[in-house]
Amino acid sequence: MTLLIINIKELLQVRNSKILKVSGKEMSILPSIKNAFLLIKDDIIADFGSMSELKNMNVDETIDATGKIILPTWCDSHTHIVYAGNRELEFVDRINGLTYEEIANRGGGIINSAKTLQNTSEDDLYEQSAKRIKEVIKLGTGALEIKSGYGLSVASELKMLRVIKRIKKDFPIAIKSTFLGAHAVPLEFKNNKQGYIDLIINDMLPKISSEKLADFIDVFCEKGYFSIEDTEQILEAGNKYGLTPKIHVNQFNAFGGIALGVKYNALSVDHLEVLNDEDITALKNSSSMPVALPSCSYFLSIPYTPARKLIDAGLPFALATDYNPGSTPSGNMNFVLSTACIKMKVTPEEAINAATINGAYAMGISDDYGSITIGKKANLIITKEIPSYYYLPYAFGDNHIDKVIINGKLINY
Ligand code: NIG
Ligand code: FE
Repeated sequence: MTLLIINIKELLQVRNSKILKVSGKEMSILPSIKNAFLLIKDDIIADFGSMSELKNMNVDETIDATGKIILPTWCDSHTHIVYAGNRELEFVDRINGLTYEEIANRGGGIINSAKTLQNTSEDDLYEQSAKRIKEVIKLGTGALEIKSGYGLSVASELKMLRVIKRIKKDFPIAIKSTFLGAHAVPLEFKNNKQGYIDLIINDMLPKISSEKLADFIDVFCEKGYFSIEDTEQILEAGNKYGLTPKIHVNQFNAFGGIALGVKYNALSVDHLEVLNDEDITALKNSSSMPVALPSCSYFLSIPYTPARKLIDAGLPFALATDYNPGSTPSGNMNFVLSTACIKMKVTPEEAINAATINGAYAMGISDDYGSITIGKKANLIITKEIPSYYYLPYAFGDNHIDKVIINGKLINY
């Protein structure tokens, strides 16, 4: 099956070699071709170039993209999209003055979502989650990381991970699965956190490994959740099962979580709303991708990750949604792009690099995703007719996507 797209107003993020990430000043460069064509063979990008170079050829299907921009689909490297129910009552509690921390301390927050999920069947959890997956694909997401962490018991963590496995099988986008048993300490272990850590290490991890349910391991390394010592035990155990870390660090407090992630070769360190000079130094000597989650900052009214500080230090960063029922009930990467530009003072070029190639790196898949490169997967966003790519973050809140192509096929959910 060959699909030819012609008269593309501008083809963005074209890379001739399979680069894996872009860092520092390079992030401000977004290579593009104006008045371009793109050829897809089956699920792969087979060729692209300027319309003037297009030779006559026989193809199965042609799309005319006059006035439209094409770019790689978003790579959302941090989500908790598999969850049960919602927490809109806590949202109103926060409007009325309670903090995220106060809500968590009285048994709300992650513990509240865990209670709901424990009482939800695997099939129901699958249905609720599949609906959200379809929505984010329509919004241009073509690769997604999904975490467990709302189970907090052996049975329910396995339930979440099995649902993720089913989603991997049923949907055409790239999906990576992360075990986040250490998301919060469940009530039964309130006075025995080590008991819960032992359960993660001795009970959950061996089962997850034998069913091959996770690609990565995560810990919420934060005051009131898991300390440096707790996190180290869990990462050490994950390491024995070949699970690379992707960790939640520096959301509310900076106390060495980033250096720990770097020590354990974390693929990514995520949140980073609070970032000090030692954290920057640790990142400079690492291959870990810093991941910013601006929709979470927006929703919780907490600081935004200082992306300019990362760029000035020559570092890369990725953008992701953090889609979850507590801190970010949105999986819209287009909103993430706008919010990064508006609130983090990131340029459209930097934001698009962060949401495509660097997001792919943060999932370990930038060999096949995240840029328009011959041989990579044909996962594309075709925009509506828009004046320029600046318009994507600028005209926030509107949907500028006309079509989404995944593995060379048009999505029609
Ligand atoms: O990434 N910070 C920890 N976990 C989620 C929020 C979880 C929740 O409130 O349900 C996050 O923001
Ligand atoms: Fe998260």
